Amino acid sequence: MGRFRDPQHPLFRALNSSIAFDYRLAPYDLEQSIAHARMLARSGIIGQDDFERIEHGLAQVRQEIDEDCFVVNDEDEDVHMAIERRLTEIVGPVGGKLHTARSRNDQVATDVAMLVRAHSLEARGLLLGLMGTLVELAERHLDWPLPGYTHLQRAQPVYLSHHLLAWFWKLRRDLQRFNFCMTATDDLPLGAGALAGVNFDTSRMYVAQELGFGGIAENSLDAVSNRDFVLDYLHAAATCAGHLSQLGAEIVLWSTEEFGFCEVADAFSSGSSLMPQKRNPDAAELLRAKAPRIVGRLVGLHGVMHGLPLTYNKDLQEDKEPLFDAIDTLELCLRVAREMLTGIAFDRERMAAAASDELIAATDVADLLVREGVPFREAHGIVGELVRTAVEGGRRLSELDDDELRRLAPQLPPDGFRMLMRQGAWLESKVSEGGTSLARVRDQLSQARHVLDEAAG
Ligand code: ARG
Repeated sequence: MGRFRDPQHPLFRALNSSIAFDYRLAPYDLEQSIAHARMLARSGIIGQDDFERIEHGLAQVRQEIDEDCFVVNDEDEDVHMAIERRLTEIVGPVGGKLHTARSRNDQVATDVAMLVRAHSLEARGLLLGLMGTLVELAERHLDWPLPGYTHLQRAQPVYLSHHLLAWFWKLRRDLQRFNFCMTATDDLPLGAGALAGVNFDTSRMYVAQELGFGGIAENSLDAVSNRDFVLDYLHAAATCAGHLSQLGAEIVLWSTEEFGFCEVADAFSSGSSLMPQKRNPDAAELLRAKAPRIVGRLVGLHGVMHGLPLTYNKDLQEDKEPLFDAIDTLELCLRVAREMLTGIAFDRERMAAAASDELIAATDVADLLVREGVPFREAHGIVGELVRTAVEGGRRLSELDDDELRRLAPQLPPDGFRMLMRQGAWLESKVSEGGTSLARVRDQLSQARHVLDEAAG
């Protein structure tokens, strides 16, 4: 076709070419091509000898790519054309039979679906590793109290194990989102042709099985225009990166002099070139900063996709760079988060000191009143008065004397109140399901272990 046309303008070529980035589809493209050629031979569309020569040629291309000596030409618009061009150089004109009953439109959709599936699996594995690290940390810090926060104000004390497991369950939902990505990539686009199907009685289910797809896309027009699975991956990645960002932000906060709850290992922090005392939690800061980049990739692709008429449009070529960047960013962040958490050191004393702030027992005092029949709203007001009186007098809650207690909170049993203050029992009082009492955290840990075992087995 090119022979009868004027040569392409170099600027058009620069805009149109995707080889610089879609090169990383090559392993999937080769696998797909072998399955496709095998199907063509089995269906009698090409000869068995054609298939064998094509297969042999593709094996050589594979080797060149693996050994990093595959040479891309100026003429190669994308990875699909580069591979076919090289195949034909190796095996001669029979290489041209590979593209029988196939279009680059169904070919590229198939490559991208295969890549998304492979990296959804990778994300799953990395998530499970990180979740395992959180479970180990929770087990090692089972009964270390620290304040829990709302509005970043000390609210109620919790165990560090409970706090760490909160991240576990967020990541569990990320895992489920990546599971969904596997479903979203389960219908084989290949065989849809350019858009309408192909002029041969191909066996798409055979190709699907060869490539590990569960089924085939039912509608050829949908097959070549579908990039939902890329959006699904980007969405899962954006939410997951958002969690890692929150986790990173927390580590940044906790490792300040002001909090002093944790210290990140030297290997994941930097010193200041000027101030010798400084140790900066750069890794945690970058986890915090990477999330919006992935969100941007998601939003960007929605922009590309919205309003596109059926079926294939060249716009769809813009699916790749955002996807690849999101994959690289997310996988790196997941690896970093795991290593960083593995080497983190928590400061038991600092956390305990912050958690022993008696004011965070206020809810428990209110509940003591509730047990005496005082409606919770009223109890809340009474304890508010107790707190105000203590704070204004520069005293702890437990330093209120019996007269004051009788006057401000006549329904409060003084012995019960004294015991509550003495024991610091307001962690173990959180006995409800999903609460922070040790028994409940132990239940939670076994549920978490169960999730990991199920995913592994
Ligand atoms: N590089 C293209 C892409 O990524 C391949 C499909 C081109 N198809 C076409 N009919 N021009 O979308």
